Amino acid sequence: LNYLNVKDRKTIIDILISGLSRLEYRGYDSAGLAVDGDNETEVILFKQVGKVAALKKLVSEQKVDFEKEFVNHCSMAHTRWATHGQPSMTNSHPHRSDPKNEFTVVHNGIITNYKELKTLLENKGYRFESDTDTEVVAKFAKYLYDTRNPNQNLSFTALVKDVVKKLEGAFALIFKSVHYPHEMVATRRGSPLLVGVKTAKKLKVDFVDVEFGSDEKIPESGGGLLSPNDAVPKLRHSQSRTFLSEDGLPQPIEYFLASDPSAVVEHTKRVLYLEDDDIAHISEGELHIHRLRSDDGRSAIRSIQTLELELAKIMKGSFDHFMQKEIFEQPESVVNTMRGRVNFDNHKVTLGGLKAYLATIRRCRRIVFCACGTSYHSCIATRAIFEELTEIPVSVELASDFLDRKTPIFRDDVCVFVSQSGETADTILALRYCLERGALCLGITNTVGSTISRETHCGVHINAGPEIGVASTKAYTSQFIALVMMSIQLSEDRTSMTQRRNEIIDELKKLPEYIKQVLNMDKELQELAKNDLNKEKSLLIMGRGFQNATCLEGALKIKEVSYMHSEGILAGELKHGPLALIDSDMPVILIMTKDSLYPKVQSALQQVTARKGKPIIICNEGDDGIEVQYVKIRVPQTVDCLQGILTIIPLQLLSYHLAVLRGIDVDFPRNLAKSVSIG
Ligand code: G6P
Repeated sequence: LNYLNVKDRKTIIDILISGLSRLEYRGYDSAGLAVDGDNETEVILFKQVGKVAALKKLVSEQKVDFEKEFVNHCSMAHTRWATHGQPSMTNSHPHRSDPKNEFTVVHNGIITNYKELKTLLENKGYRFESDTDTEVVAKFAKYLYDTRNPNQNLSFTALVKDVVKKLEGAFALIFKSVHYPHEMVATRRGSPLLVGVKTAKKLKVDFVDVEFGSDEKIPESGGGLLSPNDAVPKLRHSQSRTFLSEDGLPQPIEYFLASDPSAVVEHTKRVLYLEDDDIAHISEGELHIHRLRSDDGRSAIRSIQTLELELAKIMKGSFDHFMQKEIFEQPESVVNTMRGRVNFDNHKVTLGGLKAYLATIRRCRRIVFCACGTSYHSCIATRAIFEELTEIPVSVELASDFLDRKTPIFRDDVCVFVSQSGETADTILALRYCLERGALCLGITNTVGSTISRETHCGVHINAGPEIGVASTKAYTSQFIALVMMSIQLSEDRTSMTQRRNEIIDELKKLPEYIKQVLNMDKELQELAKNDLNKEKSLLIMGRGFQNATCLEGALKIKEVSYMHSEGILAGELKHGPLALIDSDMPVILIMTKDSLYPKVQSALQQVTARKGKPIIICNEGDDGIEVQYVKIRVPQTVDCLQGILTIIPLQLLSYHLAVLRGIDVDFPRNLAKSVSIG
């Protein structure tokens, strides 16, 4: 929040906290904020573990002068969903450069090269207080400030540019500094960031124009400028610092920076979306936008948009439901799972959390996967590739049954607990049971700091981002990838597997593109739901081998959100019972992708059609060996062990459309909870 207006400290904090609570749906393990102290060289930080309400309570109990008024003020706040380091007071944002809070930073995203930067700064004597990737950004800013050329006037923008040039990964960052009072610099790459513009009366502001050559030629104040006095559409630098409304009266102006319009919409509906490598500088009521590299050839004209949407709608972006949004996020969420871990050039996978345990895992007598619901299906999906690459026997257990059976577990077992939330009671109980028996326990979760990530010896965070819809979608594909990555890393000492590993890694790289192609079939799947399936009572989904998990997970999705009875059937088992269900009226989906089991699935198809069944077939693009009347869905072909990522997405979309057609509350289906924390 940056404004030129008179406000007291309490009002500023209230605005920050209410903005944070709007963003809480993105993550909520800790929160914090930074406001000015009583003089310009002081910044006060408040941080608290837990939800935003806990931060609010903490702040209200502080002995600070809430009535102190500021004419010009910059502040920042953050709610965290941990990717590096446990949720704790020190790990929560804003992060600072030093105990005097010279530079404070809030960050959304992941800095993948933070370890190298941290080592560099540690070697220069900087001491770190948190385990986060973000702290390096604040410290690096101070380092550049401390080592600046004293004869040159280093602007805040130039300083931030130098910081950003050293960063790799995905980020939206906001900087504040006691050395640049009342100024704020924000930038993004890969993570969203927008500027909300608020004026008391409507100003003639429609474009921000920052077309300029190089930074050297243009003085700092001459960059892109939000200049409300000029006529639209071309606005350029204005000397005036007073903002006049159409009636000629001076107007206060406020800027709100946020990763999501939901945080700002109660103050203003006029927003400007920053683009990758934009550096936004706000000072004295002016907004200047610079490019990180002025020679990148990208236009820097940004228009201000007026949001017409309702708040709930904004949180979901252009989507109607979180489930839909999460399905469509998969091209990005799978990249986030692989980010910094898969090296596509030298075909290497490095899961930092497992490094120290690789030798122990390789020596174990067996690997036991243990999970519930969708997470259980991700284990089924990856068991075969795990066994193939590592040659270690793998068993897959439902956490609830695992305890009922009092499964024998030994010290030389490795037990892997997979859970989106990291809080599923059955999975936690199974974990504690295995810990008691001395097994090495690994966690695969989407929630840093969750019980499972805390209580396991080591593990992998899938980094899919918060999942809100009760029916799990993007977490499934990310768990799937995390487990495949783990099997690759575990087998890296087996040269006989090199070719197979390389082939998988090459295909991992192409996955986001393939996923986009599958998502493009949304309309067809909506039609299929409407015309072929909506009136049905039941649906069988069949396949075998690598596709068995897709059948089980697809059927679970259909049940969960559309309330239609659905069963996933291993096609090899058809003749042992389910075939009795087949007639011309029974809806069947058959997954028939091109892998070594294709001939066997062909025989399942014959068994179904011989009983007058009319299956809907999911097959690969380019496969013309199947009667066209049955082929409804074609997905790109990838390596067999990753194909399940592409076959589940049509079923996720199908279940979503069935639920919508049936008027079901997609994100909150009856009787179900996102996180089942009671056993
Ligand atoms: C609940 C949810 C499912 C989820 C399962 C396991 O039943 O409704 O969507 O798959 O729990 O949750 P976890 O957080 O452990 O992956």
